[in-house]
Amino acid sequence: MEVKWLDIPSIKDPRGNLAVLENSKLPFKPKRVYYLFDVPSGSERGGHAHKNLLQLIIPLSGSFELVLKDGQKQKSVTLHNPTKGVLIPTMVWRELRNFSAGSVCLVLASEEYEEEDYIRDWNEFISATSQP
Ligand code: TYD
Repeated sequence: MEVKWLDIPSIKDPRGNLAVLENSKLPFKPKRVYYLFDVPSGSERGGHAHKNLLQLIIPLSGSFELVLKDGQKQKSVTLHNPTKGVLIPTMVWRELRNFSAGSVCLVLASEEYEEEDYIRDWNEFISATSQP
């Protein structure tokens, strides 16, 4: 399955780099921003898909592994560059693991939090993604 990377424009400066996200230049208009931090070593996050929600995942600091599954195939990538995010389409199962110490995972979401939009059961996900 395809992983949709998004290059985030940045202004490089010897004083420190600056990366910019602008609504009009994103593939969706974020309604919510949240971030994972203080993730204990060995901890795993995610383990679900979304029916309608789109997400952009950005490793603000440190690194972590993102596993994407469409019900047939899976792909694992390591995010470690704060100017390269990954877009997660609807109906893609995601797992996040191998967080480095001090890592911060920024998430831009197309919708506000709605538990009904989650599919947290793997069997339900497989049923929903399998061909009729
Ligand atoms: P979840 O989305 O499962 O976290 P992750 O995929 O990063 O492992 O959310 C964990 C818990 O936090 C769950 O009980 C729902 C709650 N939550 C909110 O209340 N608001 C939010 O915006 C998010 C993302 C989660």
